[in-house]
Amino acid sequence: MATNPTQIELIQPDDWHLHIRDGEVMKDVLADTARQFARAIIMPNLKPPVTTVDLANAYHARIQEKLKALGINSFTPLMTLYLTDNTSADEVRKANVAGIAAFKLYPAGATTNSDAGVTDLKHCHDALEAMQAVGMPLLVHGEVTSSEIDIFDREAVFIDQVLEPLRQDFPELKIVFEHITTLQAAHYVRDAATGGKNTIGATITPQHLLMNRNAIFSGGIRPHHYCLPVLKREEHRIALLEAATSANPRFFLGTDSAPHSKGAKETACGCAGCYSAFNALGLYAEAFESVGKLDKLEGFASFFGPDFYSLPRNTKKITLVKQAQSIPHELPLGDATIVPLRAGETIAWSLA
Ligand code: DOR
Ligand code: ZN
Repeated sequence: MATNPTQIELIQPDDWHLHIRDGEVMKDVLADTARQFARAIIMPNLKPPVTTVDLANAYHARIQEKLKALGINSFTPLMTLYLTDNTSADEVRKANVAGIAAFKLYPAGATTNSDAGVTDLKHCHDALEAMQAVGMPLLVHGEVTSSEIDIFDREAVFIDQVLEPLRQDFPELKIVFEHITTLQAAHYVRDAATGGKNTIGATITPQHLLMNRNAIFSGGIRPHHYCLPVLKREEHRIALLEAATSANPRFFLGTDSAPHSKGAKETACGCAGCYSAFNALGLYAEAFESVGKLDKLEGFASFFGPDFYSLPRNTKKITLVKQAQSIPHELPLGDATIVPLRAGETIAWSLA
């Protein structure tokens, strides 16, 4: 690849961590994602959460209906179930047979719609054992929830208090440490001993590759830069960028694009989540280019995710061009609007 390419061709990427919500807004956000990605792991934190195979099947049918209405037949949603204190081993086995891609662990109270999440992993022993037995991945929101722990430390503390003990107890369980935000998480995943097995991965969002915590406060409070886990110091951003561009197959693309209406973000107690789906690939290309590693984008975006999930890689190719794209100030979101990441600014790369 030329040192300063003006276009790059890659196998079509997938998004291994995505929120599309439900109802009318789903149509708007699905269109943005399906323009770029072939598949996406669909997060189950709806209200009420998607805790059973039956609920996931019904959600899948609603997604297919919206895709059909949009005339999209090239996008595959990969469904997940929300782990609770009461998830049974039977439900895990049923999910495996039904083709559910993964379970999601939200520590209760950690983030948007996580109240029904797990209060203590000791309640999940049977379900975790069943996941390990059938090879069902567990996707982890890796933050402790205790209010005594500083919000900027919650991910690092989670590694010691929850993740490492979990991996000791279930050494063969496939775990994805989702949307990692710290040097500690990047190094933990990089250095984890797995006996040569494919048992640990991590997703990284575009916002955590491009911004540090100053972005939440630059010139005033910036609600559209608030997500969970929250942006961290620059040293962490650099460690994440290093991990993402290292060609280590444990690190792959997951936008965590999390739509909330403009009104729900710009308020006294705004929701957590960045809407990156509008031009997520352009954002990732910018991040990789910033360290001269555009040649490492395809592995991260298109190969390592399916490899981890034991799914075939996509075969279709897409082209990204270095052509500045203006990002609108607002986009339609059902009967409201949404402010996308980088609203009113430009992104250097866009889909051809
Ligand atoms: O910022 C976030 N938004 N982090 C999460 O973990 C959940 C997500 C959402 O669903 O809005
Ligand atoms: Zn998420």
